[in-house]
Amino acid sequence: MNQRQDPIGVFDSGIGGISALQAMVRLMPRETFIYYGDSLNAPYGTKTPEEVRTCVRAVVNRLLDQQVKALVIACNTATSAAAETLRRELEIPVIGMEPALKPAHEIRHGGKILVLATPLTLRQPKFSALMDRYGEGAVRVPCEGLMELVEREDMDGARGYLEKLFSRFDLRWVDAVVLGCTHYVFLKSMIREMLPDHIAITEGSEGTARQLERVLKAAGLNREEGDGHVIFETSGPAEEIATMERFLSRRL
Ligand code: DGL
Repeated sequence: MNQRQDPIGVFDSGIGGISALQAMVRLMPRETFIYYGDSLNAPYGTKTPEEVRTCVRAVVNRLLDQQVKALVIACNTATSAAAETLRRELEIPVIGMEPALKPAHEIRHGGKILVLATPLTLRQPKFSALMDRYGEGAVRVPCEGLMELVEREDMDGARGYLEKLFSRFDLRWVDAVVLGCTHYVFLKSMIREMLPDHIAITEGSEGTARQLERVLKAAGLNREEGDGHVIFETSGPAEEIATMERFLSRRL
């Protein structure tokens, strides 16, 4: 069978990766996506790399059983812990995500860059390598507990969390804030309202979608006709599927 017609597997520890999925669906409307939210094992960001790799292995096996032609790790944490291993082991393309520090570095004009991400992402060698290249003025800001507020749709809780977090910094000297966890992208408009206008916000959804498109085209795996759709799956309760569908059409 023509592999072009096969679905693309996308996953995260919960609903966060749907922020990246939105960009993928917009850019590649002919593709079919299977999105797997591993909410039973969330959060990933406070686990050890080995624990995350175990969770990821189970998710990836489920997706491979469904003949996915490519895999998108729509999670910065899982990418930093498992992308290298997956690329070694799998024959299909594996696209990962990393905090959008490079674009923040490019627009920086001498001030600080706040990198908001999970504790695990910020501790990994992959992020240290990124810091070595683009980390001038960048500060690691681990946000333990923030993804849970997004999962629970506790917007008041998230606002309180972020107000406290930003109050630790003199925002006059901040040039950019990096949303280095796909869950935080659902708080982008709230964060935009909270921050002074001179601060740029960067995140990786669009870049990941473009990278996926490039990789599929280069491998001759992109679908050129027909209408795509999205199938949601979860390791949590079945009711979560309705929430996931809602998050797919949520404005960012
Ligand atoms: N959404 C994930 C990320 O991009 C991680 C959230 C978590 O499970 O801690 O890092």
